[in-house]
Amino acid sequence: MRKKFIAGNWKMYTTAATAKALAEGVAKGVADNAVTVAVCPPFPWLALVADVLRGSAVAVGGQNCHYANEGAYTGDVSPQMLLDAGCKYVLVGHSERRHGINEPDLFLNRKVKAATSAGLNVIFCVGELLAEREAKQTEDVLDYQLSAGLAGLSKDAVAKLTIAYEPVWAIGTGKVAKPEEAQEAHAFIRKCFAAQFGEAAANALLIQYGGSVKPDNARELLKLPDVDGALVGGAALKAESFLGIVHAAV
Ligand code: 13P
Repeated sequence: MRKKFIAGNWKMYTTAATAKALAEGVAKGVADNAVTVAVCPPFPWLALVADVLRGSAVAVGGQNCHYANEGAYTGDVSPQMLLDAGCKYVLVGHSERRHGINEPDLFLNRKVKAATSAGLNVIFCVGELLAEREAKQTEDVLDYQLSAGLAGLSKDAVAKLTIAYEPVWAIGTGKVAKPEEAQEAHAFIRKCFAAQFGEAAANALLIQYGGSVKPDNARELLKLPDVDGALVGGAALKAESFLGIVHAAV
């Protein structure tokens, strides 16, 4: 049985004060470890949020990292810095970075390797554009993003991976994938993962769905056999709606 994993991606939202209040609200509503829960605040609030969540059942993640552990990389943050700030997770390959600022697959692959070898758990995001879905290229896109982004990973690194399937057309649009579309994509991702890393790793892999997940559609998605959790954007910015999704996973 795979344990459900719900993560909130706060993107470039919140102030120091609202981030603190949101973290407190989330911590209060997650009483046990029945579901794995994490929040990914903006970099400046990581240590603050980690302080609030210390001793709670809610973990902290970064939204991105560089592949180097230090260096002349203005504006970047290393995996070790995320660990020092109290992070357990990091998102890599979110569509707002892949498509928003053209981060290439090779770069993402280096980040996954660096983050996992530093000791972070990586939520590796994949997903097709609307035009790719309409052209029936979804499987080709997912296959490519997985094989390029995860090429050459060690067994240890594979054990630290979660995949988030986020169809780009569903992110922030209110347009959620139909259950059969989500299940089909998740099953395909698991099949690709099995071909890359073996059946046992694929069976243990957690695959989150992301894209307009809300408390009222979460249950239907989370009961699908290959949907092991959710990566939540907009609905993660209010403790009540995020907790609604966490409770739908129980
Ligand atoms: P929304 O839940 O706002 O659609 O965002 C999804 C997402 O991008 C999470 O990483």
